[in-house]
Amino acid sequence: MAGSRRGKSGMSSGGAGNADRQLARAEIGRLRKLLRAADLAYYQRDAPEMSDARYDEAKRRLAALERAHPELSTPDSPTRTVGAPPREGFARVRHEQAMLSLANAFDARDVRDFDERIRRFLGLGDQVVTYTAEPKIDGLSLSLRYERGVLVMAATRGDGEVGEDVTANARTIADIPQRLTGAPDILEVRGEVYMTHAEFAALNAAQDQAGAPRFANPRNAAAGSLRQLDPEVTRARPLCFFAYAWGVVSAPLGRTQMEALERFAQLGFSTNPLTRLCRGPDALLAHYGVIEQQRAELGYDIDGVVYKVNDLDWQRRLGFRATTPRWAIAHKFPAETAWTRLERIDIQVGRTGALSPVARLKPVTVGGVVVSNATLHNEDYIAGRSADGTPIRDGKDIREGDWVKIYRAGDVIPKVADVDLARRPADARPYVFPTKCPECGSDALREEGDSVRRCQGGMFCPAQAMERLRHFVSRPAFDIVGLGSRQVETFYLLGWIREPADIFTLQARDSAGEKTLVTLDEVLQRIGRSGAPEAQRRELAGLLGLERFAPETARAAYLERSRMPLGRQHGWGEKSAARLFAAIERRRRIELDRLIFALGIRHVGEAAARLLALHYRDWAAFETALSGAVPGTGAQWDELVNIDGVGDVMARALVTAFHQPGERALIDRLVAQLTQVIPAEPPAADASPIAGRTIVFTGTLERMTRAEAKARAEALGARVAGSVSRRTDLVVAGPGAGSKAKKAAELGIETLDEDGWLKLIDGK
Ligand code: IVH
Repeated sequence: MAGSRRGKSGMSSGGAGNADRQLARAEIGRLRKLLRAADLAYYQRDAPEMSDARYDEAKRRLAALERAHPELSTPDSPTRTVGAPPREGFARVRHEQAMLSLANAFDARDVRDFDERIRRFLGLGDQVVTYTAEPKIDGLSLSLRYERGVLVMAATRGDGEVGEDVTANARTIADIPQRLTGAPDILEVRGEVYMTHAEFAALNAAQDQAGAPRFANPRNAAAGSLRQLDPEVTRARPLCFFAYAWGVVSAPLGRTQMEALERFAQLGFSTNPLTRLCRGPDALLAHYGVIEQQRAELGYDIDGVVYKVNDLDWQRRLGFRATTPRWAIAHKFPAETAWTRLERIDIQVGRTGALSPVARLKPVTVGGVVVSNATLHNEDYIAGRSADGTPIRDGKDIREGDWVKIYRAGDVIPKVADVDLARRPADARPYVFPTKCPECGSDALREEGDSVRRCQGGMFCPAQAMERLRHFVSRPAFDIVGLGSRQVETFYLLGWIREPADIFTLQARDSAGEKTLVTLDEVLQRIGRSGAPEAQRRELAGLLGLERFAPETARAAYLERSRMPLGRQHGWGEKSAARLFAAIERRRRIELDRLIFALGIRHVGEAAARLLALHYRDWAAFETALSGAVPGTGAQWDELVNIDGVGDVMARALVTAFHQPGERALIDRLVAQLTQVIPAEPPAADASPIAGRTIVFTGTLERMTRAEAKARAEALGARVAGSVSRRTDLVVAGPGAGSKAKKAAELGIETLDEDGWLKLIDGK
């Protein structure tokens, strides 16, 4: 471009004439725009658009121009800033009814087990259950809310609880009616947005023409098209929609799943024509075969067959586990496979310090998706044996340089299925699993009975610290608006945040100009200027943009960046910084279940955190119980392991976290920053007579199975315990009740028989 050449000559002449300055101003503007766009692509979209060489060149020229024209230099110039603001875009919507996923079945055995579980749960004996069987569409799920027949909201699934508002885009999809006649006043229709093979091919051809990147598969293309900020882009990429489920409805859609689907069709939705009613598991498996045969000719991707209990009353009784319904399952198609070369084995360090080996592969297409990484699980798996010593892959070990068979099932992480010994390079050596953490150099130990080797560095290990911070700010945890995993990572690398408590002191340190918590030596080590390992150096330096600096200037650039207030970092302004600090302040009040989950204790997932929060109710009780518990003995331990859903392993992890001084101090520092931990509220607290009460079932129940009774009680907000103690509120005793009923009588605890229990919960 002529302008840029002239700009360059203006710069080198150093002339300060007016015309010269104007050219410089234009060129500076152009370069800043270019670099900011590159930063956005790099930091926000994770998709670098410019080569490092071009980026460096542009930055050097900009810096030189700014030096020659100091009056044109500004604090927000890309030469003085790092990163990019949080991704802005779609508004977030909380689903009134969570959008769940499905449990998977991989073979006939799993399908028969599914059917048996259902019959057992409902106490049906040999009675045959009728199911619907329909293709599992490989797209992305969408919830459409209609009020009085008018489409008012379309939201993606997101994390199941909170999705993105894509209403404007959904309105451009022909399969989605804007108005319905004869629908219930409130109706949330759920289904799958997908792209046909024909549209996918056309889209990629257009991308090629425009010199834009291709989409890897129709699902990514559909997701990318639906999540466009400009609805006109969505309109230009025809998407389709199949309705298969629903959320909130103000009036029932029918008595069965099939009737509900027919209702959808009458209302103008597309439902999948391969949906069939099947009586029992044999019929399910037969229809699975039919669908599998037609798979290649459908013209869109499917990755299995979904089975659902047809009777909606049974569905209601079966209810849900934490994230999946008991009444449905996805029977996945067998995994696809391909052979490729394993180039290298890398070790990644996770939040809990687990060293996870990853196979870096020569990229290969497996079932339409390009795969370049596969999980290797642990050192036994690499060595060709399972945890109990039995051989896997006929005992063949995996070595760098090997030819390996990769398989991939749906969205599951690709795995290594086999090794071709005939093609093993002569110099391939057995893989030696590291005994030191590759990130921080601490010992990596393998405890007895554990298949995983763990770094002992705790929060001193940058990989663990960063993973824990990411976990801490994740959606089900503290979920601070504007502080996503990329921001927290950048703040960590700038030395501003080392542990969760630091998030809450960031603002005070920011205004005092004292954010840096780490010493410069630590940072230099992290960015690989003093012998840090390669993988770490690349990751850290990349995030800070420091790899673009020569070693002698990296130190100064780092210091400059880390000292600059947030409001002056590139992509941030006073306003967005103030917004972030306000969002952090708001989170000084946090729900107990979020706090427990955020602590990142091993084995304690979202569902378990909720169970613990509901059981102990407030932080003080939880903290006292865990501080006092001794593994394997005493009342506090018994209480903990008696919580339904808390096993021995999880209980040990919890107690360990509260007894390890370093870990404990971290928790205490965090809690000291909070102003209120909001006690857990059981669901439907006012509606249910048993909400918040602890119930023990004993003896035989005749009108519902124990599993159903327990699920009903939990759905109504009660806790179900395995043994009677002073904390028990109610015992439901059927015939044959023994010691538990006796103990309840001794303790004076209310005891009901089955009829009394049903009357209590159903009012009949
Ligand atoms: S039913 C409560 N039916 O699969 C159950 N899901 O792996 C709601 N999916 O998140 C889901 N085809 O995005 C259902 N015919 C079908 C489906 C289907 C595709 C997707 C859906 C869901 C995921 C679970």
